[in-house]
Amino acid sequence: MSAHGDPIPMTSRKAAPLKGVAHVPGDKSISHRSLIFGAMTVGETHITGLLEGQDVLDTAKAMRAFGAEVTQHGAGEWTVSGVGVGGFAEPEDVIDCGNSGTGVRLIMGCMATSPITATFTGDASLRSRPMGRITDPLALFGAQSYGRQGGRLPLTIVGAADPVPVRYASPVPSAQVKSAVLLAGLNAPGETVVIEKEATRDHSERMLAGFGAEISTDLTDEGRVITLKGQPELSPQSIVVPRDPSSAAFPVCAALIVEGSDVLVPNIGLNPTRAGLFTTLREMGADLTYENERVEGGEPVADLRARFSPDMKGIEVPPERAPSMIDEYPILSVVACYAEGKTVMKGVKELRVKESDRIDAMARGLEACGATIEEDEDTFIVHGMGPGGLPGGGTAEARLDHRIAMSFMCAGMGSQKPVSVDDAGPIVTSFPIFEPLMRELGAQLVRRNV
Ligand code: S3P
Repeated sequence: MSAHGDPIPMTSRKAAPLKGVAHVPGDKSISHRSLIFGAMTVGETHITGLLEGQDVLDTAKAMRAFGAEVTQHGAGEWTVSGVGVGGFAEPEDVIDCGNSGTGVRLIMGCMATSPITATFTGDASLRSRPMGRITDPLALFGAQSYGRQGGRLPLTIVGAADPVPVRYASPVPSAQVKSAVLLAGLNAPGETVVIEKEATRDHSERMLAGFGAEISTDLTDEGRVITLKGQPELSPQSIVVPRDPSSAAFPVCAALIVEGSDVLVPNIGLNPTRAGLFTTLREMGADLTYENERVEGGEPVADLRARFSPDMKGIEVPPERAPSMIDEYPILSVVACYAEGKTVMKGVKELRVKESDRIDAMARGLEACGATIEEDEDTFIVHGMGPGGLPGGGTAEARLDHRIAMSFMCAGMGSQKPVSVDDAGPIVTSFPIFEPLMRELGAQLVRRNV
């Protein structure tokens, strides 16, 4: 089943060389945060380049339900009139976050230290994902939660009327957990501290500082210690959302595996907490260059140029790099099929609790297309077949997971026989223009009748 309607089976056939310029949409992580942080200010935040994917639209709807005024003015141009820190109203109905783990987890954080009650749900994928990693630290602030077994959605949070600040060492490398704790800490008195052993994406820290919060990060023996002073008044901002490196990954990787390709993907943020895939591809010998390198809004940005790369070699991806490319392992596993030798991905067990179990979804789909895979709970190994790559001819299950669907559609652009996916519907959650953008470059994507 598709995330939001009937399934859309799709087939990808060997593409002519992919050529041209691919303008990918706005960053999903920053888009969610722009709406949520904007809702916590007093005044009007102006956003351009917002990703209008279903995940972000669901967050916009949720912010309205908590009392913010969220308005679309044109393509990617939005304003949010916030209610201030601690100003959230109690929603009248259940909050449906659709497919979005980021949306639901960050929103739970920001309502948990207000004296209101909210019930959250989502699609079948989101309802199967663990929420204890969020409700455990929120309980320390004084919030109560009542979910299904294993803390699964639907889940009700009764916000703390008199929240206390928290010092929390996150047991999982997760920017969503870190962000939920920081957002809860905004409406608690005193200092809230989050400690993470491995650096995860730092958009919340950077953006909260931009919105006027007092927040600092110290590197210590314990890890990164992030300290936030509670109960600030956040001031509205003007935000230009950068383009999403996780979406850029798809045209970049497709170009590497399709003979004769040369694709430019402009204006991609290369924040080190997000750019692990590009480092990995370059280590594998991919012809991937950074052009026009510059700094924009305090973040490193470049135009990425990817060309067909017949000489890639499998490598061992260091486990400590995982948080900086956590969403990119599915498409890396496709590229790995086209490299010579084994690509070994260790320290990747978080992939098992994403929109789907991404190790299992990729392993089964790639095997159906003729690849040899090894896996254990925390490891994913792809046996490369060189530039001849994947035989193809199989159908993969998307499992309500946008990145699985897009990865298999890219796989089919280079494989000998076509590759199909049972449902490309979930792609709208993060990359609504994937199909026309890839077709424009030369991809042959065909929707099939069910
Ligand atoms: C995100 C964090 C990551 C990532 C997700 C977006 C964010 O999840 O997989 O797509 O915006 O904070 P985890 O923090 O759970 O690893």
